[in-house]
Amino acid sequence: MLLSVVTVQRLVPVHRLPCAAASMPSSTLVLLGRRLHCSAASMPSSTLLLLGRRLLCAAASMPSSTLLLLGRRLPCAAASMPSSTLVLLGRRLHCSAAASMPTSTLVLLGRRLHCAAASMPTSTLVLLGRRLHCAAASRTSTTTSSRVLVLLGIGRRLYGSAASSRVLVLGIESSCDDTGAAVLDHTGTILGEALHCQNEVHLRTGGIVPPVAQQLHRDHIHRVVQEALDQSGVTPDQLSAVATTVKPGMSLSLGVGLEFSLNLVRRHGLPFIPIHHMEAHALTVRMLRPDLHFPFLVLLVSGGHSLLAVARGVDDFLLLGQSLDEAPGEALDKIARRLSLTKHPECSALSGGQAIELLAKRGDRRALAERAGDRRAMTFRTPMGTLRDCNFSFAGFRNQVTMEIVKREKEEGVDEGTLLSCVCDIAAAAQHTVASHLAKRTHRAILFCHSRGLLAPSQPSLVVSGGVASNQYIRSALAVVTEATGLQLICPPVKFCTDNGVMIAWNGVERLREGRGLLSPDVDVRYEPKAPLGVDITAEVKAASIKLPPLQLRIKD
Ligand code: KG4
Ligand code: ZN
Repeated sequence: MLLSVVTVQRLVPVHRLPCAAASMPSSTLVLLGRRLHCSAASMPSSTLLLLGRRLLCAAASMPSSTLLLLGRRLPCAAASMPSSTLVLLGRRLHCSAAASMPTSTLVLLGRRLHCAAASMPTSTLVLLGRRLHCAAASRTSTTTSSRVLVLLGIGRRLYGSAASSRVLVLGIESSCDDTGAAVLDHTGTILGEALHCQNEVHLRTGGIVPPVAQQLHRDHIHRVVQEALDQSGVTPDQLSAVATTVKPGMSLSLGVGLEFSLNLVRRHGLPFIPIHHMEAHALTVRMLRPDLHFPFLVLLVSGGHSLLAVARGVDDFLLLGQSLDEAPGEALDKIARRLSLTKHPECSALSGGQAIELLAKRGDRRALAERAGDRRAMTFRTPMGTLRDCNFSFAGFRNQVTMEIVKREKEEGVDEGTLLSCVCDIAAAAQHTVASHLAKRTHRAILFCHSRGLLAPSQPSLVVSGGVASNQYIRSALAVVTEATGLQLICPPVKFCTDNGVMIAWNGVERLREGRGLLSPDVDVRYEPKAPLGVDITAEVKAASIKLPPLQLRIKD
C-alpha cells in the first residue's frame, strides 16, 4: 500500500508505508503501523506522531515543533531536524537519532539508543533506558549552551560519555607495521598513547613479511592498548567509542587490530568506529590546528600511498590524483635496501626514507651528472613530465636509480651489498627527484583547485602528511610551491606524520562529533586491504590539462 497524500489532521493506520509517504505539509501527521520505510514524513509539520515498528531511514527529517516517535527500531537519521520537542520512545533507536539538531527538549526513552544520540545543544535532555551508547549527550553544559541536562539511567548501562562531560575515544592502528593505540578526549587532548614499531625487524628481513608483521601485532597489541589506557586513567567502560583502522592496509595486519577491537567493544558494549587510514592521516592536523576548516588540499605520502585530495568534510574527499604504481616511501625503502644502507653505521635502525634523508644532507645531487660531463643534467628524470594530470609514478624512477647503482658498482669494482663511496650523492639525487615529482603534481593540483574554486577563499591551505611528509627537504620543495600560489603549508610534527594510534583516535573523535560511521558493537565489520578515498575526479583533472608555469625549486641542500 502506498500513500502519497495525507492531508491535514490525518490518521494513517497501516502496515507498510513505503517510501515518500506523507511528503507534504501537514499541521498534524499521525503514522501508525509497521514498517514505515524511507523518508516518511519529510515535510514541515507542527505535530508528527509515528507509531509502530521499524520506522526506517530518514523518518522525520524535517522541522517540526513536536515530534514523537514511538516503536521499535528507529534506525538511521531518525529525527535529524530542528525540533522544539522531540520524544523518541522504543527500542533500538540506532544511529544519529536526534543527532545534530538544536532542540529545546529532547527525551529519549527505551533500550539501545546507540550512537550519537543527542550530540547537540539542548536546553533539556532526558535519556532514559538501558544501553544509551556512545556520545549520548556528548555536549554537556561545559561545551554547549545546554542549560539543563538530565541523564537518567533507569535500568542498566548508561554507557560512554552519557553523564560525563567528556567524549573519550580509544584509537587503534595496525594497518601496516606499527601497532599504535591512544586515548583522546573530544578536544583532541591526548590522555594516553603507546606505539610499537616493527621497523627494526623488517629491516633485518629486508622488507615487511606480512605473516611476521601479523605475529608482531598479535604479540604487542594487548600491551600497547593497555599502556594507552593506563596512561589515560580511563577504563574501557568509560570510553565513548573505539575507533580502529579497517582500511586500507595489509590484510593480515588489519585483521589483528579489527579482531582485537571487536572483542573489546563487544565485551564492554561500546560503539565501534571503523577508520580509513588515509582519512586519518588527512585529518590529524585538525587536532593540532582547530582553526583549520574545510575545505583544504591534502597531499598524503607514505609507504603505501601517494595521493592528492580536497578534504571537504570529515568523510568527504575529492581525489585529484594518486600513484599509478608504487608509493614514494616504498620506492625510497627499496632504494635504501638496494644501497644496503642498513650497513651504514648511522642508518642501521632507520627506515629507508629516513636513511636517505640523512645521507642526502652530505651528498651533492648534481655530482653524478657532473662527473658524467653534463653540468646541467639532472641525475634522474622527474617522472611523468609530459602528462598534465596529478597522478604519481615512482616505479620507473626507482628503476633509473637501480641502473645508476649498478653502473657505479661496476665503476667502483664492488659487488651488490657493498656500500658505494657515492652513496650520499645517490641519496641526494633520489630525494630531489621525489621532492620535485611531488611538488610538480601538487602545483598542478593547486592550480586546478583555484580554477574550480575548491579551496577556502580566505586562507587556502595545503596539508601534507604520511611518513614521507616528515622529510624536511620534501617539505621545503612544497613550501616553494605554496609560496608561489598563495597557500599556507601545514605539516604535522614528524611523530604525527608516521603511523600512530593518536591519528586514529582523533578521526574517531571527528566522526563521533558528527555522528558519522558509528556502528553498534554487534555489527559484523570486515577489513578492506584496498579502499579508495573519496570521489575520484582524477579524469577531470587530467582533462583540464593544466600546464605548469616555470617554477625553480631552489632548495637549500
Ligand atoms: O605513514 P607511514 O608511517 O606508514 C605507511 O602508512 O606507509 O610511512 C612510512 C613510510 C616509509 O616508507 C618510510 O621510509 C617513509 O614513510 N619515511 C620517510 C621519512 N620517514 C619515514 N621518507 C622520507 N623521508 C623521511 N624522513
Ligand atoms: Zn600511514
